[in-house]
Amino acid sequence: MPSFDEFISESRIFKDRDVLSPHYIPDTLHFRDHQIRELMSSLAPALMGKKPRNTFIYGKTGTGKTCSVKQVSRKFDEKAEGKARIVYINCRIHNKPYRVMLKVAKAVMEGFDKQGYGLPHIYERLLEWAGTGKQVLIILDEIDMVKNLDELLYMITRANDELEAGGFSVIGISNKLLFKEDLDPRSKSSLYEREMVFPPYTANQLQKILHQRAELGFQPGSFTSGAINLAGAIAAQESGDARYALKILSRAAEMAEEADKGKFTDAEVKAARELVELDIVREAIDKLPENHQVVLYAVARLSLSGSRYARLDDGDDGYLFSGEIYEEYTSLCKKLRKPPKTARSYRSYLNDLEMLGLLTCVESGKGIRGHTKLIKLGHPPRELMKIVSKHLEE
Ligand SMILES: Nc1ncnc2c1ncn2[C@@H]1O[C@H](COP(=O)(O)OP(=O)(O)O)[C@@H](O)[C@H]1O
Ligand SMILES: [Mg+2]
Repeated sequence: MPSFDEFISESRIFKDRDVLSPHYIPDTLHFRDHQIRELMSSLAPALMGKKPRNTFIYGKTGTGKTCSVKQVSRKFDEKAEGKARIVYINCRIHNKPYRVMLKVAKAVMEGFDKQGYGLPHIYERLLEWAGTGKQVLIILDEIDMVKNLDELLYMITRANDELEAGGFSVIGISNKLLFKEDLDPRSKSSLYEREMVFPPYTANQLQKILHQRAELGFQPGSFTSGAINLAGAIAAQESGDARYALKILSRAAEMAEEADKGKFTDAEVKAARELVELDIVREAIDKLPENHQVVLYAVARLSLSGSRYARLDDGDDGYLFSGEIYEEYTSLCKKLRKPPKTARSYRSYLNDLEMLGLLTCVESGKGIRGHTKLIKLGHPPRELMKIVSKHLEE
């Protein structure tokens, strides 16, 4: 019989788990001074009753966009004294013009919580409210997730045209560089009055960010400095993504805890990296359409058994022929009682899988069975098969 002590005892590793969560915002954000100042200077006119220019913020995932903007908006609130309001909106959740405007209305007008009003009503009420001379700043985080974004941006522009006092501005944030290409030219020029970039973090920067979190989140003596630096170096090499770096760190800490160790070191960080990689792969696979999953499964199966064809060059580099994978795919489809797609569709699935980093493809040189594609799996085959088969069994 186990003792409850085992389950209520304080962790030897974690001091405060919340600090390691991706939602935690430290008081000091290192290496974002420049961006934070620029954003503050761009929003400051609102504190003097003038409409700021719309701003678009671009940066890859985990470059500190959300936490910097949230910190600036907190500071803004402290100064605004009712003259202006800043509203943070996560567009993953509020992904339509109606939802965005409802969220804005609820945030700025006390007591405005009636669902069921139509968009025109919400618009009129917001116009009245801002018309008394108030500036409303709308932060649209992950703005690329908004459906009918053109409609939303147009509505905001129109509101500004109608208003004599007060106004609405937009701070759009995205990690998709090319999303603006899909916007209508009018939206594009309105959103991009000002542009800011958040670059990926370097190894040194990530190491400092991780050290800051480790001091706050872990028990003293529960980690080596080398382990933190390794996690930072790995994340910098992959992408410069602070969220990824923090994931590795948390996973390493959890592993030490599960193994009942009082400390984590390089070994845990290395193992944690594999786990985090697999988490990411799992997320990607979960979202794949079924035929893509079957193709991936076919590649994994053949990777285990090895290519059936000997090659003229060094044969054992893990590359498979496109043709043999297609054969494997069609035979898997038969087993699953699904009609296989054409070879042409199959080739487009390969491209998609390559884009997601699940495979690598190279063109074979001349002479090896004509001119063909060679394909290699990006991750350990057994793990991938386990993940994919969960879907195919359903
Ligand atoms: N400069 C920084 N200092 C400390 N923590 C940071 C910094 N930049 C990012 N982080 C942390 O990394 C994680 C991801 O940051 P986030 O702002 O969500 O990135 P983005 O919105 O660009 O994807 C969060 O947990 C955040 O606290
Ligand atoms: Mg973000």
